[in-house]
Amino acid sequence: MKFFLDSASLDEIRAAKDMGLLDGVTTNPTLMSKEKSDWHKVAEAICREVDGPVSLEVVGTTAEQMLAEAKELVKYGPNVVVKIPMLLEGLKAVRALREQDIDVNVTLVFQPLQALMAAKAGATFVSPFVGRVDAIGGDGMAMVEEILAIFRNYDLRTQVLVASVRNPLHVVRAAIMGADVVTVPFAVLKDFVKHPLTDSGLESFLKDWEKVPKS
Ligand code: E4P
Repeated sequence: MKFFLDSASLDEIRAAKDMGLLDGVTTNPTLMSKEKSDWHKVAEAICREVDGPVSLEVVGTTAEQMLAEAKELVKYGPNVVVKIPMLLEGLKAVRALREQDIDVNVTLVFQPLQALMAAKAGATFVSPFVGRVDAIGGDGMAMVEEILAIFRNYDLRTQVLVASVRNPLHVVRAAIMGADVVTVPFAVLKDFVKHPLTDSGLESFLKDWEKVPKS
């Protein structure tokens, strides 16, 4: 399973890269708004830093606007994946972009039928938002399980990119189910490393090490 970082912060991206946990990056307008520099420069720097796919999101809502934006976005690097919202107009844009061999990530997916439609249109990635589904009392990972089953039934090649990840269980379950990618915010990624038994185990090892005779 690939790990993408859900961030537009170069510091976070470099830190994840140093840990060997950076297979790609996803951004969105909210993440871009947290950076203080001009977004063109941010996007360009991210694409240069990251070896894998970088999702950059359009903000237009008609296919025409999305395609015009995509034309500019792909100039940031060969690894750009154009992120398109799950709309009827979005599907039109997905099809047109895929015909030009441009990779597309269909975002804001909240139920399996949306994912199937995005795959039919030719999306490279589809992003079900598990945390936001959980937050309104749904079961985000059940949605992912259904999407994976549908894609396997019909041998659809669209990759399932689990997004809106909030906790380690989302990632563990995604890996067990065989999801292709998870995209994780840096703060959540750091939490995954932690375990109280790791901390207490290390503490006692270090304490005992002090008792070891040393010359
Ligand atoms: C991923 O590509 C999305 O931009 C992201 O996971 C959104 O998640 P949120 O619910 O944390 O905003």
